[in-house]
Amino acid sequence: MMWVEKYRPKSVEEMVGNEKVRISLISWLRKWQKGSKAALLVGPPGIGKTTLARLLAKMERYNMVELNASDTRTRETLSRKIGEATRSESLVAQRTLIFLDEIDGITGRADYGAVEFVKEAVRQSMNPILMAANDEESDQVRKLGEVCQVFKLRPPPPREIVMYLKHILEEEGLEIGDERLSEIAVVCRGDIRYAINMLQAGLSESKERSITTQESITLFLSSKDESEAMDALSMYPGQPRDKVREIFSSIVRSRVRGEKRGRMLRCISDADILLGRINATGNWRLLRHLDKILAGCMIRELRGEKIAYTRESIPWELQVRIWNRSKRLKEVYGLLAGMLRTSSSQFVSGFLPYISVMLESGEFAEKISSITGVGTEELDLLKEFGQI
Ligand SMILES: Nc1ncnc2c1ncn2[C@@H]1O[C@H](COP(=O)(O)OP(=O)(O)OP(=O)(O)O)[C@@H](O)[C@H]1O
Ligand SMILES: [Mg+2]
Repeated sequence: MMWVEKYRPKSVEEMVGNEKVRISLISWLRKWQKGSKAALLVGPPGIGKTTLARLLAKMERYNMVELNASDTRTRETLSRKIGEATRSESLVAQRTLIFLDEIDGITGRADYGAVEFVKEAVRQSMNPILMAANDEESDQVRKLGEVCQVFKLRPPPPREIVMYLKHILEEEGLEIGDERLSEIAVVCRGDIRYAINMLQAGLSESKERSITTQESITLFLSSKDESEAMDALSMYPGQPRDKVREIFSSIVRSRVRGEKRGRMLRCISDADILLGRINATGNWRLLRHLDKILAGCMIRELRGEKIAYTRESIPWELQVRIWNRSKRLKEVYGLLAGMLRTSSSQFVSGFLPYISVMLESGEFAEKISSITGVGTEELDLLKEFGQI
């Protein structure tokens, strides 16, 4: 089990750092009444924003309606999901706290109107609204600042982090040198999730404990920069092919769709091509580049996504088929995209989902095939790919 889960604080008091901020947040909630400002928690990744929000609700006995703002792509979903919660004046005995997590993830498009919607919701809400964001400088944060009391979480001093890490080691009955502990506490720059992960990962090198493939992939999928991603991949205890495979099935089973998904799959396909070359040539030294390709290419796409580790869900044969023919697939996209006067990535996100459903009809497939000259076998591939 991952220590970040096992040692997730159980109460607000157990958390590391920012004690004053935690206390003033509690008093914001206690004093809140209709018309009061919302609260906005701002702080770097892994410092405990989400954790603090949940523990606060628990401590003050609020029922929490949690919404990850980056999930809500349209104003309508946002309004549907929080509208209800802002209106209902506790029908049930328990009061409600509305938590909008990762508000800097709500799409930045000007015409979207989500920020305005949230502002209006804050003004009208019968229930307190708490928000969290990473980036103080983001447009969303700046705009929402007007209706919020802002609570800034800052990196706790390394010695506090060291104490926390020591407490974990004690619970585990393990020991590592003070020097290494301080090092972790300093390099994590306030990212406690990272510190705990590094502590656990570092120990896995020794014989006390070995990291599982699941843990390594989970670390990879949640890493925030390339070096973290490289570390995670290098800890993978299995075969390189399985490593690529597990990343693939996690992405495919995630909610990531559209262009982003296409870009992720292309990264994986590049890694797979390299693996193929290694297998064919026996040049094992090329393996060193595998993690680099995966980490370098994927990290841009992984940031801000929450992707859970998922074991194989589609038959491996199908995956292999998709991979082996990914080059041909790209050509087919290119061709169809050209005919539809759109880009390949637009094609994958905007057209493919529909086309792949329509391809279910043999008649349609034949028509497409005769217009485009793309073989039916390739159209089948397109159909499978579009529906995963
Ligand atoms: N202040 C803290 N005290 C103790 N543990 C912490 C603290 N902050 C983070 N952690 C650990 O890191 C994990 C992740 O924290 P959390 O998800 O709350 O961070 P976050 O600030 O919301 O990050 P993100 O910006 O990526 O959403 C927690 O489950 C916990 O194990
Ligand atoms: Mg969070």
